[in-house]
Amino acid sequence: MKKRLLTGDRPTGALHLGHYVGSLANRITAQEEYECFFIIADIHTLTTRPQKKHISDLKENIHKMVLEYLSVGINPDKSTIFVQSLIPETFELNTILEMLVSVPRLERIPSLKEMTIAADLKTQPFGLLGYPVMMAADILLPRAELVPVGADNRANLELARELARRFNRMYDAIFPIPDFQIEGTLIGTDGQAKMSKSLDNAIFLTDDAPAVEHKVMSMFTDPNRLSADTPGRVEGNPVFLYHDAFNSDHDEIAELKERYRGGKVGDVDVKKKLVRVLNDFLDPIRERRNQLEGDPDLVNDVLAHGIHRMRLEAQETILMVREAMDLPSYAYAKALQGVEPVRGLALV
Ligand code: TRP
Repeated sequence: MKKRLLTGDRPTGALHLGHYVGSLANRITAQEEYECFFIIADIHTLTTRPQKKHISDLKENIHKMVLEYLSVGINPDKSTIFVQSLIPETFELNTILEMLVSVPRLERIPSLKEMTIAADLKTQPFGLLGYPVMMAADILLPRAELVPVGADNRANLELARELARRFNRMYDAIFPIPDFQIEGTLIGTDGQAKMSKSLDNAIFLTDDAPAVEHKVMSMFTDPNRLSADTPGRVEGNPVFLYHDAFNSDHDEIAELKERYRGGKVGDVDVKKKLVRVLNDFLDPIRERRNQLEGDPDLVNDVLAHGIHRMRLEAQETILMVREAMDLPSYAYAKALQGVEPVRGLALV
């Protein structure tokens, strides 16, 4: 049997090349080896943005995110794509896991403080303190064994492992201890360590060719290089890092680097080549998205199917959890058989 993998994103906006390099590419190949679950974690966005004006973007963001997943090659016939808030068992397992962790333990997780500050919140909401607990619920519901995440989620994953172990020890060993895999990042167009929407240094999968050209031509390169005939620095230079990540013509890259180091090629030429490379990379994705957009029911069908599939897993897990804990049973198993599949939910 294939191992289960779960990972996902908060639906905060468009995906960019950093997402592609760091995680989407990995997900596409992982689909062959693992049974993949991709969560669109809408409830997690409420931890810092519970206002109605933010919630009102969620449905559209979810829709776009599914289209982007599909256009890069996530295959809904192989993988399960679902929306967190439509799996009510998430809230159930979350509440149970909340009993197994102390407040000081959560307070020691550094990313939560950073999120509080980044979101300009004066105090930390109770729900934000519980962010990693809900993440653990997401992971444990389908009993995932592998969870690829960005480095900023490492501490959350350590907690998820701890909670799985604690549950298993206190009640019954029903959860695999999830392994994590730390994903890479891509430098921003401005040379900052990480491409991110909020830093305004991102090239989005939805950018058209002129937008890509504009962003690349104004990219940060070697700040010490004043003209094309002075030797330039390749290491840490975002233009070359992007060539490395997206240009499949390794001879061209090697030659460009040599000329750049020797002061024999200008930034403009290296950038022009990068524009071509990135647009060649994005073209098939754009084309596929156009095609997919032509089918107005597609996203709903994919989500309805994914939610149904995930709910069945979640209900099975909750049944196991309740039995392990010896909570009052309400003949959950029987009731399950009468549950209508969650088909046809009007999500978008
Ligand atoms: N916390 C992830 C983020 O940084 C999103 C997420 C929510 C997630 N639940 C998850 C990732 C479970 C991996 C596994 O956006």
